[in-house]
Amino acid sequence: MTAVRQITVSVNGQTFERAVDPRLALVDFLRDQLGLTGTHIGCEQGVCGACTVLVDGTSVLSCLMLAVQADGSEVSTVEGLASGLELHPLQEAFWEKQGLQCGFCTPGMLMRAKEILDHDPDPTSETVREAIAGNLCRCTGYQFIVESILDAAERIRVGSNA
Ligand code: FES
Ligand code: FES
Repeated sequence: MTAVRQITVSVNGQTFERAVDPRLALVDFLRDQLGLTGTHIGCEQGVCGACTVLVDGTSVLSCLMLAVQADGSEVSTVEGLASGLELHPLQEAFWEKQGLQCGFCTPGMLMRAKEILDHDPDPTSETVREAIAGNLCRCTGYQFIVESILDAAERIRVGSNA
């Protein structure tokens, strides 16, 4: 039997202390222990990007990271994007520009997009396409996703200059 480990993780600004199995994947910790089911599980092999979250501001595939590896870190998931009832500009742009169809890839895509815009507020479409290459979408053909991310970048730039 494996001994449980005590971890302390901040998720979307809220601190959680939990005893976890050292083999527990971060995505399972978020979904099963914290009830944050917005982060999706696709391949569980690091291929699809559906499980993308930010750990200390950097995107990670939470199916490949252990919950114990996030001990002491700040994790951001799709549930933390909106401010109350106010959607994040990325969510608004995906909604208005039809950056999703079935929505399965969307939480991971949004978190990856947030990382892109946090580092580059005015990316080119080529930059965006390259950056989301690890997030698979089987519905949209990617064009509307790229347009949504570029639109969100503009919304954020306009908002920060207002
Ligand atoms: Fe993690 Fe597919 S579920 S990369
Ligand atoms: Fe269906 Fe991307 S919207 S997988």
